[in-house]
Amino acid sequence: MAVIAGNWKMHMGPARARAFFDALDLSGVGDGHDLVVFPPAVAIEAAVGAAKRAGGRVGVGVQNLYWMDEGAFTGETSAPMAVEAGAGFALVGHSERRHLFGESEGDTALKVGAARRHGLVPVLCVGETLDERKAGRVDEVVLRQLNAALPALTSADRRFFVAYEPVWAIGTGETATPADASEAHATIRARLVDALGPAAADVPLLYGGSVKPGNAAELLSADEVDGVLVGGASLDPASFAAIARAAG
Ligand code: PGA
Repeated sequence: MAVIAGNWKMHMGPARARAFFDALDLSGVGDGHDLVVFPPAVAIEAAVGAAKRAGGRVGVGVQNLYWMDEGAFTGETSAPMAVEAGAGFALVGHSERRHLFGESEGDTALKVGAARRHGLVPVLCVGETLDERKAGRVDEVVLRQLNAALPALTSADRRFFVAYEPVWAIGTGETATPADASEAHATIRARLVDALGPAAADVPLLYGGSVKPGNAAELLSADEVDGVLVGGASLDPASFAAIARAAG
């Protein structure tokens, strides 16, 4: 079983979200995989409706949320609002949130907590920049980001995913090798098991960063890679389906 997640970023409003599902052909995709897309917040409801009409195999999530339930927070979306719109998952701490919007590790922890309180499955994103990789600091950075969110990820309900997305591989066409992905995932896995107990062996660890139909099978078969978080290649229904087919 693999997780195939599509992060649409700031693409695909309601009409394009509906068109995506009208065109999505999942024939040949193995049973049992978790398929999810993350549309912009304004398109969640349209995507949820279209996903249901298309057979209900694809879940929908929110790309970001604020940790308060409601209030004077202009421009933000809360977890209960995302749930009301039909979301079941929440990306938290995507590198664009951290690096373009200045989201801190404290913020990501609060967001993970809010997602869990309201029954959204958090997908915590972690990953190093190119400078950090060159300086040999991959483990340090990934563990720091993971540790900040760990208090909000108790073993009582271990339904959450972690996505390892090296910043230098996002939207650049540069992909981590399967060995790079396995190494970082093994670090994440060891820390999760240490902090949360043996059950954390089942937490799906996703790789993200320039995943495409042509490299998905190789990445998905790497050790400790339980799924992929796909940006650009998830906007086209044929390539999203091809990546899901690559999971076997
Ligand atoms: P990409 O984005 O596949 O376009 O590199 C991945 C992501 O940011 O989740």
